[in-house]
Amino acid sequence: MMKPKIGIVSDHGGFALKEFLRKSLEESFEMVDYGTKSEESVDYPSLVGAACQKVLAGDVPRLIALCGTGIGASIAANRFPNIRAALCHDEFTAEMSRRHNDANVLVLGGRVLGTDLALRIVQKWIQTNFEGGRHERRLQLIEDLKP
Ligand code: RB5
Repeated sequence: MMKPKIGIVSDHGGFALKEFLRKSLEESFEMVDYGTKSEESVDYPSLVGAACQKVLAGDVPRLIALCGTGIGASIAANRFPNIRAALCHDEFTAEMSRRHNDANVLVLGGRVLGTDLALRIVQKWIQTNFEGGRHERRLQLIEDLKP
């Protein structure tokens, strides 16, 4: 059976947690690693932006993005129309980001979360479906917002 695909990307601040998550998930998922490949300092907007383009191109249906706090990665990812990036620090918000927001990018802070909690957040996010209904209308209203 084909494994479902999940993209993963980080800067140096999220690198260690990215590596842990990638290795933990690759038995059940085809993990597509969009970098970074080491602890060397890199710029998260470029890496996260390139990975979001892959989501929008349909190469991966979902992406996990990490930086040190998760803040920069989520700000960068949410610049893209049709990217709904949710910065989560707990299982509840991870669940709700799927049920109500249909988040297609999960953002985590590599310098914020321990490995066990991060993995539980990811698992909750992966296994939770979008509820649709009234939330569909609200997502469309977000896409319709004009700066
Ligand atoms: C890099 O030092 C750090 O600023 C970055 O990983 C992230 O936390 C930005 O929001």
